[in-house]
Amino acid sequence: MSEENIKQSVREFYDQVGWQAIGETLYQNAQYEDLRPVSQVYLHRCHMRVKRHLAHSGTYFLDAGSGPVQYPEYLTYSEGYQARVCMDISIVALKEARKRVGEHGLYVLGDITHLPFKSDVFDGISALHTIHHVPMADKGLAYGELFRTLRPERSMVVVDGWTNAPLMVHSKRFMAGMQRLRGWWERKNKKVTEEPEDKELHSKQSKEPSLEKKFRPAGTFVEKFDADGLIDLLTGKMNFEILVWRSVSVAFLRAVIYPDWGGRFWLKVLFWLEERFPRLLGRVGQYPLVVIHKPSETSQQQLTSSDV
Ligand SMILES: C[S@@+](CC[C@H](N)C(=O)[O-])C[C@H]1O[C@@H](n2cnc3c(N)ncnc32)[C@H](O)[C@@H]1O
Repeated sequence: MSEENIKQSVREFYDQVGWQAIGETLYQNAQYEDLRPVSQVYLHRCHMRVKRHLAHSGTYFLDAGSGPVQYPEYLTYSEGYQARVCMDISIVALKEARKRVGEHGLYVLGDITHLPFKSDVFDGISALHTIHHVPMADKGLAYGELFRTLRPERSMVVVDGWTNAPLMVHSKRFMAGMQRLRGWWERKNKKVTEEPEDKELHSKQSKEPSLEKKFRPAGTFVEKFDADGLIDLLTGKMNFEILVWRSVSVAFLRAVIYPDWGGRFWLKVLFWLEERFPRLLGRVGQYPLVVIHKPSETSQQQLTSSDV
C-alpha cells in the first residue's frame, strides 16, 4: 500500500469507527485503554506527566492528531494559552474536539507530515499516539514538521508505544501466570467481580469468543519504533530526551492489577519507580515520553555553522 493509501485508510478508520461514540464521553477507540476505576489514579498521573514539559502559557498550542481531546487531562495542557490548535486527519475527530474545546480551539484538518502552519509559531506542541499511524518512511517528516513549527526556546512532547518493549516482552509469562492465578482464585471463591465485562474480556477459560474479539474492529495501520530506531532517526537533528510516560501496557494492567489484590497500591509503587527511573523505564517500558527542545535561534545558527 502506498503512503497516501495508508493515510486514507487511517482517516477512514477514525471517521467511521475509532471516533464513533459508544457512550456520552466514550468512543470505540477507548477499548484500547484500561478504563477500570482501579487504574484511574495511575492513568491520571501518567497523563499529567505531559504537562510538566510544556510551557504553561503562550499564544498557540498545537495538539497534533488531537482526536476528540478525549481525556479531561488533555484540556489542562493548553489552559494557559490563547488558543489550542486541534489538528487531525479525521474530520469526525475535529467535530468531537470542538464539543470539548469550544471557542478556545481552532480546528484544522491536516496531515502531521505536511503541517499547514508557518515555522516557529507554537509555544507548545503535543502529539500523543499519533506518529505511530505514520508509515516508517514518513516518520522523519512528522518529527521535522513538529520541530519546524515549534517556537525556539520551547518544548514539545511526543508519546507513542514502542514495538516489542523489553519490559513487556519479559513480562509475558508473569502476565499469563497472574491471569491463571486470578481465574483459579475466582473459581475457588465463586467470585462475582465488580467488573464483569473486564473479567469476560480476558478470561482465557471462556469458550465464547471474548467481548474484545467480538467488538474490536479490525483496527488500522500502526507502525512503531523500538528505542534504537527513534534514537537513530533523531540524533543530530534535534535535542531530545526519552523519558517514561507509562511503563506498562493495557494488557499488563488488565492481567496483573485487580482492585481486591492491592491494585491501587501496586500502581502507586509502579508510578514511584517510574518517577525514580524515568530514563530507564522510558527506554524499556511500553510508552516513552519524548521531549524535544528547540534551542534559541542563535544556538541553531551556531550549530549550523559548526556543521559546515
Ligand atoms: C490514537 S488516536 C490519538 C488521539 C489523541 N491524540 C489521544 O491521545 O487521545 C490517533 C489520532 O491521530 C490522527 N492521525 C493519524 N494519522 C494522522 C496524520 N498523518 N496526520 C494527522 N493526524 C493523524 C487520527 O485521526 C487520530 O485522531
